[in-house]
Amino acid sequence: MQVALRDIGNCVIRRCDPSDIIPVMEINMKTLPEHYSDYFYESLLAELPEAFLVAEAEKKLIGYIMCKIEYGFSNFKKLGFVKKGHVVSIAVLPEHRQKGIGRALVEEAISGVKLKRSDELYLEVRCSNNEAIKLYEKLGFIIKQRLKAYYRDGEDAYLMTIEFSY
Ligand code: ACO
Ligand code: ZN
Repeated sequence: MQVALRDIGNCVIRRCDPSDIIPVMEINMKTLPEHYSDYFYESLLAELPEAFLVAEAEKKLIGYIMCKIEYGFSNFKKLGFVKKGHVVSIAVLPEHRQKGIGRALVEEAISGVKLKRSDELYLEVRCSNNEAIKLYEKLGFIIKQRLKAYYRDGEDAYLMTIEFSY
């Protein structure tokens, strides 16, 4: 059993357990066109449990966020290799949106990647996904680049990123 990181009304944000992966995959299937293998979810959980989080209400999962750590060129500095967190996927079930759960998931994932001393956190988001873009901008992410035809259906993505200081 994982400890609650935060309560929002009757919903708690906590780390993901291995037994949560199937319900997380079900939320992903219902909410996003990008899907992954069970092995991929398991490997993200094994590598970065600090930033693989779920939202639970009335004993059911209603949202998740999962991230990984990468080493690469900074999106902010011209030179140098940095440790970057990458938000791979986040979703909240439609009937539970606009109650602050998405925001809490991103804020707690930021804390999680900061525990690993990441220099930055980045993500890609569909240019048409206004709700998500608004949420990320509220939390301090900025649009750094437009990635042409990033998605399988040809839609462009924005690369959004936030820099941390310690
Ligand atoms: N219209 C405008 N702004 C919105 C909306 C909306 N419908 N929903 C959220 N926002 C913005 C607002 O700025 C809001 O702040 P406010 O409440 O102070 O106005 C802020 O986001 C936070 O809202 P939350 O209630 O915390 O967000 P929610 O729980 O609804 O989750 C999410 C947002 C995760 C984007 C949700 O809409 C969702 O699951 N969408 C489908 C899946 C998806 O698109 N995921 C992101 C893909 S990109 C990636 O995974 C890296
Ligand atoms: Zn990505």
